[in-house]
Formats: sequence, structure tokens, C-alpha cells
Amino acid sequence: MDIEYCLQIALRKVNGYTIRRCTYEDLKAVIDINLKTLPEHYTEYFFESLLREIPEAFIIAEINNAVVGYIMCKLEFGFSNFRKLGFVKKGHVVSIALLPEHRGKKIGEALMIEGINGISSRKGDEIYLEVRTSNVSAISLYRKLGFQTKSILKSYYRDGEDANLMALELS
Ligand SMILES: CC(C)(COP(=O)(O)OP(=O)(O)OC[C@H]1O[C@@H](n2cnc3c(N)ncnc32)[C@H](O)[C@@H]1OP(=O)(O)O)[C@@H](O)C(=O)NCCC(=O)NCCS
Repeated sequence: MDIEYCLQIALRKVNGYTIRRCTYEDLKAVIDINLKTLPEHYTEYFFESLLREIPEAFIIAEINNAVVGYIMCKLEFGFSNFRKLGFVKKGHVVSIALLPEHRGKKIGEALMIEGINGISSRKGDEIYLEVRTSNVSAISLYRKLGFQTKSILKSYYRDGEDANLMALELS
């Protein structure tokens, strides 16, 4: 990795944690965190393809040289969640998670903000995500950042739970 790339990926420090762009070397740790923290899992190829597609919005949190959290997003084109009949460029927050012992320290918020910045830097008009209706902490985080619940997706998850579809307008 060259020095320019290192400088480019160090985004900020929060409570002793480094928030920076993910690299291919970080992917194994990211996949481990996903397996430990969420029921929705993906193939290694999928993680790699998101990192290739939009590295600006694939961000990790690190402390003592260990990756402890991540956010990864996709770029899509589709109908606006805000404007009738509008066709827009949308960022999709595919997954965000922190290991349990690192929660409640504003790291999730920092990951979301950098993910949003990454989507904005690619000229996304909006961002959206799905979240379990029972996931009070995540819903509260998204609301805090200005996301609105646009609809309820019935039985969205494999176990039958509904999802809140939440979205944020960027432009
Ligand atoms: C959701 C998650 C990423 C939040 O990260 P975090 O670092 O713990 O959250 P932060 O410390 O940055 O908190 C930011 C805001 O989130 C909300 N929040 C976080 N934890 C909360 C809790 N336990 N209860 C209620 N609200 C909470 C609050 O609005 C908080 O702002 P405040 O402290 O000013 O009130 C983290 O809890 C997590 O990894 N959860 C498991 C995986 C998951 O559910 N991912 C989301 C899938 S859609």
C-alpha cells in the first residue's frame, strides 16, 4: 500500500477508534464481524464486489490494529423514495455492524456519517436502508441522522420479521 493511499483512507478518530476506508486485507475481519453480529450473511464475492464498486462508502472502525465494525453500501438507480416518478441515483446501506463490546461509543454514528459522505461524493441523490422493526437502537441512530421511515416491508426477513424502509434525501 503506498503512502498516498494510507493518507487518503484515514478519515477520522473517534474515542480512540480509527475510522477509515476498508481495504481488501480487511475483508476477512469484516466477514467475521458480519457472521457474529447479524443474521443476514453474504458471499465473499459480494463483499469484494461492494468494495470494488464503491470503496468511498465501505468504511471500517479499527482499534489496536483490530477491525471492530464496518459499513458497506451499494449504488443503484431507481425510483425516488421522496419524489413521485423521480428516477434517482441511490445509495443503499447493505450492512452496518459493530462487535457488541464496542457499541454505544458513537462509532456506529461515525460509520454512518462516513458512509453517507461516501455516497454523496459519488453524487448519490438519496440513501435508503432496511432495518428490522424491532431494532430500536439502529432505528434511533438512523432517525438521529435524518432518515425517515418511508414504508413497512412486510415479512422482509427470512424469519418473517417486517422491515422499516428508511431513507434520507441528500440533494
Ligand atoms: C446499530 C449499531 C451499528 C449502532 O452503533 P453504536 O456505535 O452502538 O451507536 P452509537 O454509539 O454511534 O449511537 C448513536 C445513536 O444511535 C442510537 N443508539 C445507539 N445505541 C442505542 C441503544 N442501545 N438504544 C437506543 N438508541 C441507541 C442513539 O440515537 C445514539 O445517539 P445518542 O447516543 O446521542 O442517543 C450497533 O448497535 C450494532 O452494531 N448493532 C448490531 C448490528 C445491527 O443491528 N446493525 C443494523 C442493521 S440494519
